[in-house]
Amino acid sequence: MKNIYLNIYKSNFANFKKAKKNIENNNVIGLPTETVYGLAANAYSDRAIKKIFNLKKRPSFNPLIIHYKNKKSLDKDVVYNKNFVKLYRAFCPGPITFILKKNLQSKISILACARKKTVAIRFPKHKVARDLLKILDNPLAAPSANISSRLSPTCANDVVDEFGKKIKFILDGGKCKIGLESTILDLTNKPTILRPGAISLEKIQRILKQKVLVKTNSKVIKSPGQLKSHYHPGVPVYINRNGPKKAGAFITFGKKFKSGNNYFNLSKSGNLEQAANNLYELMRKIKNKNFKSISVCKIPNVNLGKAINDRLKKASNK
Ligand code: TXA
Ligand code: MG
Repeated sequence: MKNIYLNIYKSNFANFKKAKKNIENNNVIGLPTETVYGLAANAYSDRAIKKIFNLKKRPSFNPLIIHYKNKKSLDKDVVYNKNFVKLYRAFCPGPITFILKKNLQSKISILACARKKTVAIRFPKHKVARDLLKILDNPLAAPSANISSRLSPTCANDVVDEFGKKIKFILDGGKCKIGLESTILDLTNKPTILRPGAISLEKIQRILKQKVLVKTNSKVIKSPGQLKSHYHPGVPVYINRNGPKKAGAFITFGKKFKSGNNYFNLSKSGNLEQAANNLYELMRKIKNKNFKSISVCKIPNVNLGKAINDRLKKASNK
């Protein structure tokens, strides 16, 4: 897509230097990752973290994910355990976030962790995110680059769609490869998935050789991504439907649905990875075309379908 915005910057050497300067000055920047775009700032700076919370209108009790270049760089910030080391070897860098105990000597802003004793960490795979982390002296706190409870952005223009000129600097990394947020796995106790994502329960169990629990809708909220209403496109969403509502759009999956100007197919070939990759983009497009609602057909609840259904269910809650 053509870049018509002045705050989107190509990822070249000169702009990495500018991005670094912005982070050192405690500014917030838009950053691509392989999952979704993030709003990134120095994780060690309370001042920078406050800006993220204000921009997103995020409740202060909802902690942020801290992004690191590698395991070595987080030595002083968190306490690791065996499960973490095994999963790090298998999946990192990649689309998985670990909840671990915070080290007492940790330099991470207490605001970023919402004053919790635990911290969420992740090693993004996207080259732009990695290249920036490599030239920084600090990790980056980066929630998804959307106003709290809205859809996550999957390209640089979406970040502008959310924040307009309020974000002065966005590094362009193209369209996100995965398009759904990372899997969140709590490792402070029995391994528990708090948010499903591209790294599935089965893949995690295979590495840990133990049962992994799933708690994406617990009554005691461990992760506000678990809150019932989330990932909201701004118009009502209805799941498991056979067709659109009046003046509404219909999101389909697979071959059996017809096409029409209010029909949008996530993947004609029935590929769940492709569907995950298209989901937020399509919902944003439908909202911008002024349809009054979004109905969605049933999506198979296997593999990435579980992550898609988790987001759709939360988007459909009022
Ligand atoms: O793919 C991703 O994870 C993206 C990219 C930008 O890295 N980031 C992302 O961040 O989705 P965010 O802030 O939109 O979602 C982070 C989730 C929130 O639901 C938050 O509650 C949870 O992680 N979280 C953060 N720290 C936590 C902690 N200590 N315990 C439990 N949940 C935590
Ligand atoms: Mg988010």
